Parts: sequence; C-alpha cells; structure tokens
Amino acid sequence: MIEGAETPTHAMALFRKKRSQEPLHPAKPDEARNRPIRREEIAMIADPRGQIAEQFRGLRNSVVALNPDGASRTVVVTSAVRGEGKTVSTINLAVALAELPGNEVLIVDADLHHPAIEDYLELPNRQGLADVLAGRCSLDAGIRPTAIEGVSVMGAGSLPENPTRLLGSDRMKVVLNQLKQRFSFVLIDTPEAMTISDASLIGGMADGILLVVRLGSTPRQYVEQTHNTLETLGGNVLGTCLTAAAVEDTARNYSRR
Ligand SMILES: Nc1ncnc2c1ncn2[C@@H]1O[C@H](COP(=O)(O)OP(=O)(O)O)[C@@H](O)[C@H]1O
Ligand SMILES: [Mg+2]
Repeated sequence: MIEGAETPTHAMALFRKKRSQEPLHPAKPDEARNRPIRREEIAMIADPRGQIAEQFRGLRNSVVALNPDGASRTVVVTSAVRGEGKTVSTINLAVALAELPGNEVLIVDADLHHPAIEDYLELPNRQGLADVLAGRCSLDAGIRPTAIEGVSVMGAGSLPENPTRLLGSDRMKVVLNQLKQRFSFVLIDTPEAMTISDASLIGGMADGILLVVRLGSTPRQYVEQTHNTLETLGGNVLGTCLTAAAVEDTARNYSRR
C-alpha cells in the first residue's frame, strides 16, 4: 500500500479515462448495499488490522476530538495537486468514522472534474450532486446506502459544463445544510485546490477542511500556498492527512499535533 509517485497504479490514476457528459439515470435506492467494497486502496476494509487502517482511525479520532459537542459536521477533503490520495482518504475516513457507534456518514463526490468515488466503490455512475444542484433529482434520490453499515454515498452525477457555477451556488449551501441534518459527518471529496477553485469555494461553506499531502512528492511550498488560499477564502483547515508516507514519518506528524 505504501508506494511512491512513480508506481504503475499512480500513473494509471493520472491517465484515467474521462467520463462522458451524458445525462445519467437515477440510482435504484438499494443497488449499492449489495456491492462489497473490494479495492485494496480502501485499507479500512481490505486490511482493517493493518497500519494504514490504524492511521485512518487516528485521523478519525483527531476529527472527532475537534468536535467535542458532537454536532454534525461537513468536512471538505482536498489537496494541492492531483493524485495525492484525496478520494481514497475520503472513503477510508468515512469507514473509520462509521466504526464509531451512532455515526451516520455521507460521502459526497464534489470533484465534478474527475469524479472517482463511484469507481473506487465499484458502483455504476448515477444521478448525484450535480443533478441535485441543477434540480434534476431530489436529495433522497441522490443518496445510496453502501455495503458498509453507516456509510452512504452521493456520487458526482451528470457532469456539468461549468462545475464552479453549480458548486458556488446558494443551492449548494442549502444542500449541505440539509445533509447535515441527516448525517453526523458529511465528507466532501473535491478537486485539487491549486489549479481548480472549487475546493476553496466549498471549503468556505464547510465546517472544516482536511488537506491530503502525499509525502515525498508534493513540494512543501505547494502545500503552504494551498493552505493559505483555503484559509483566505474562509476555510477552516483542521489538519493534514499524509499518504504514501513512511510509517515513522506519519507517526511523527501525528505526535506533533
Ligand atoms: N495512502 C495511500 N498510500 C499509497 N497510495 C495511495 C494512498 N492513497 C491513494 N493512493 C494511490 O494514489 C493514487 C491516487 O489516489 P486518489 O485517491 O485517486 O487521488 P486523488 O483523489 O487525490 O486524485 C491511486 O492510485 C491510489 O491507489
Ligand atoms: Mg479524486
């Protein structure tokens, strides 16, 4: 699981085929329940006793500890550049949060440029966030419970010409507030923040932001610049999630918090 930026899996992710912009069909409400999560990147499922899963439980504990009143929270997951592990981290963190009794977690794919949540969960592309925002589908119709108890998903939906216009709309704020009333945690996967403004925009609407950093590949100044941009736009950066990290580096980082 711990790998460098030049491995074949990473290269493959960079050349993932572009999804069509055809309008999508509505989801069947229970179609995701019977699809086991099988991808090895989802360490919380593939290797729940391993070190990577434990790191996600540590991240989960930090997120929960920052929220002592137990109120529902919206958390944006972003990174400086593409391929740092945002989508994989979002899903792992969702599973880790749902391990705690009583937590209902929703994963929202707000990366309308390169959506990948449904791919990692091996689900068909269905109507989702973009359709809810455009008024083509109800909130309920955009949400599917997954095979993991306590984890539901809202995919990206039919990809729009102008994602930023949809995501920056007042409707997005309304939708996030409605989702917060139904779920304890709403985790929002977004595009990379240095080249696409969407994450900073949604970051300003959410309760917190997690910055995913691929150790040993992302230049430090990119991370700092991204952190500053997110905060300038009103975002509350909760902390970083390190991926592809040597285990001792990760441990050192957590102990500094
Ligand atoms: N913790 C991790 N350790 C090693 N590789 C990872 C980790 N998280 C993600 N990857 C790999 O990095 C690539 C990009 O991950 P992804 O989550 O799709 O990135 P992003 O959403 O930031 O573009 C994938 O090939 C994935 O398998
Ligand atoms: Mg992604």
